[in-house]
Amino acid sequence: ISLKPYNTFGIDVKAIDFISVSNLAELQTVLKHQNSDLFLLGGGSNMLLTKDITNKLVIHLNLKGKEIIKQNEDFVWIKANAGENWHEFILWCLDQDFGGLENMSLIPGNIGTAPIQNIGAYGKELKDNFIECEAVEITSGKVHTFSKENCQFGYRNSIFKNELKDKYIITSVTFKLTKQNHQLNTSYGAIESELDKQKVTNPSIKDISNAVITIRQSKLPDPKELGNSGSFFKNPVISQEDFKKFISKFPEAPSYRMSDSEVKIPAGWLIEQTGFKGKRFGDAGVHKNQALVLVNYNNATGEEIWDLAMKIKTTVLKKFNIEINPEVNIY
Ligand code: EPU
Repeated sequence: ISLKPYNTFGIDVKAIDFISVSNLAELQTVLKHQNSDLFLLGGGSNMLLTKDITNKLVIHLNLKGKEIIKQNEDFVWIKANAGENWHEFILWCLDQDFGGLENMSLIPGNIGTAPIQNIGAYGKELKDNFIECEAVEITSGKVHTFSKENCQFGYRNSIFKNELKDKYIITSVTFKLTKQNHQLNTSYGAIESELDKQKVTNPSIKDISNAVITIRQSKLPDPKELGNSGSFFKNPVISQEDFKKFISKFPEAPSYRMSDSEVKIPAGWLIEQTGFKGKRFGDAGVHKNQALVLVNYNNATGEEIWDLAMKIKTTVLKKFNIEINPEVNIY
């Protein structure tokens, strides 16, 4: 089958063996009887497919469902299954006035993939409301529970991208959300100015979600209209020493201090400075409003997007002596 509808980049590669599983038992049955390598497909929102998948079994993780497992006056614990859409889950929470995830509205993808790279936006990260996740060990089919500590979350990072890469399949995530006294996070400049613009003085969690939705829609292309995978690159983190040299040459560059020893530079700025923003090469391009996002205008192949990405990487390295690396998974 064609995987075009299953990846937000809209790349038309084929999978020979494909199976969709809708609950844990089905997944365990498939794992028991498989002997080929696996290709795990969640929301398909963080990958670039550059070739047909001919020697792996593609498992589409379509486990649905969510439940409140515990609550008190102030908090609610919700367990959501891996195949639930991230943004729809947030909307469901907001409908019930459950707070915590609103800053991460409209991030593409599913619940089950969110912990892998500790998704984040506008001042919040998944880990801030994360309690635990369940994951099936691929070799044994056994379900293990991972606490927040076990997951070793970092900036766009977790144990599932490192030691446990390709060893576990996340099947559910449990969040702790607020029922009252919501902890609003409006520290991110863009949110404040959007709320000002909308003349909201005493924002609710729904107002914050709406502000984030407006900001994202103005900068980030909707994958339904223009294939993309969100930020293609991670923002590079460099040493304080390298930063000194860099900033003396490029004093106007934006930056965020991470710690005493490290500074993060927005890759979008670096890419924009090299002139790639808004450029199109065949059907592969760099988004006009956000240089960090690569787009598929229609029929770009994964290889064409990849070639463009490497051209950008090389150019940025030459100009700034800073290495930028993909945030998306490349196959
Ligand atoms: N910038 C430019 N040109 C651009 C894009 C950005 O100069 O074309 C500059 C902006 O002026 C700003 C800085 O870069 O000073 C940061 O831009 P922005 O606030 O848009 O955030 P970002 O660093 O580009 C990150 C995340 C996004 C997330 C936003 C908001 C990464 C790799 N990306 O982008 O996440 O939505 O912050 O929190 O950390 C994603 O992961 O798919 C994603 C979209």
